[in-house]
Amino acid sequence: MSPFRLTRTLNDDTLDAALRHDVLHGLGSTPKTLPPKWLYDARGSELFEMITCLPEYYPTRDERELLRTHAPGIAAEAGARTLIELGSGSSEKTQHLLDALPDLHTYVPVDVSDSALDQAGRALARERPRLAVHALVADFTRTLDLPDTPGPRLLVFLGGTIGNLTPAERAEFLTSVRSLLGPGDAFLLGMDLVKDASVLVAAYDDAAGVTAEFNKNLLAVLNRELGADFVPDAFAHVARWNPADEWIEMRLRSLTRQTVKIPSLGLTVDFADGEELRTEVSAKFRRPGIARELHQAGLQMDRWWTTDTSSYGIALARPLP
Ligand code: AVJ
Repeated sequence: MSPFRLTRTLNDDTLDAALRHDVLHGLGSTPKTLPPKWLYDARGSELFEMITCLPEYYPTRDERELLRTHAPGIAAEAGARTLIELGSGSSEKTQHLLDALPDLHTYVPVDVSDSALDQAGRALARERPRLAVHALVADFTRTLDLPDTPGPRLLVFLGGTIGNLTPAERAEFLTSVRSLLGPGDAFLLGMDLVKDASVLVAAYDDAAGVTAEFNKNLLAVLNRELGADFVPDAFAHVARWNPADEWIEMRLRSLTRQTVKIPSLGLTVDFADGEELRTEVSAKFRRPGIARELHQAGLQMDRWWTTDTSSYGIALARPLP
């Protein structure tokens, strides 16, 4: 069994303070919004895993297929000795890359969920006796303090999670990615691509209602963590394509006029009949647009892989000198 270490840069208090800040800010503004990261408590993570198996939700399957096919090419290009994965979750998406990198010394999974990291990290250390695993509990939208491990580094951000960031947040995020890389290092980014709106909407409003439950679970999180009195079924799940911003918006629509109390924040929140709370944006990309955004952050897109139907893309970028 290889070494396994877990470093925590977040604790329950920091997370709680961040949640309170986001709720105070997001439910106090018009229109109401909340950041999608609070969707992922244990139940939310379980529901998301179920989403990845739905017939309508193609991104996970498409990305897995791309990685399966191109992992050897990616690995040859990157030649990494350290693989850092932002938002690693269950580390499932990374297996093909781990298999393809012959000189890999250390794997650094980074996630906000320490239970997922601990489980996945330990399992990997057991399965891959020659691989050092150094898990990092951290918020990857903040500056990361990476362990000192052998280069070259390959930093990967998969699953299309980049889509959860607004353009301004993306610019900030890509700039911080650039700052983590030196010459010879590389960045691998997986993203969902713009396509027919009906296909996109179906992926976020599945027939079985799993995504609706995932969305409404956010209200259960607020009830549990902040003592709020949301009635999840007093809201409807909405998934809408926004063609101007080229993103899917997930919203919760109040089915009646209602007032919600959040005692631990001393907050009373009024919802008009039909008022919507935005819980997620999931941006969809085009190759020239993401190449430009990478470039503006000091990264050059060197390789680009897509599925046969151009539904999903993976970019490999390197720091500009
Ligand atoms: C995990 C952020 C990639 O945006 O497609 C799935 C989350 N939301 N269904 C996405 C999600 C609704 C997912 N990401």
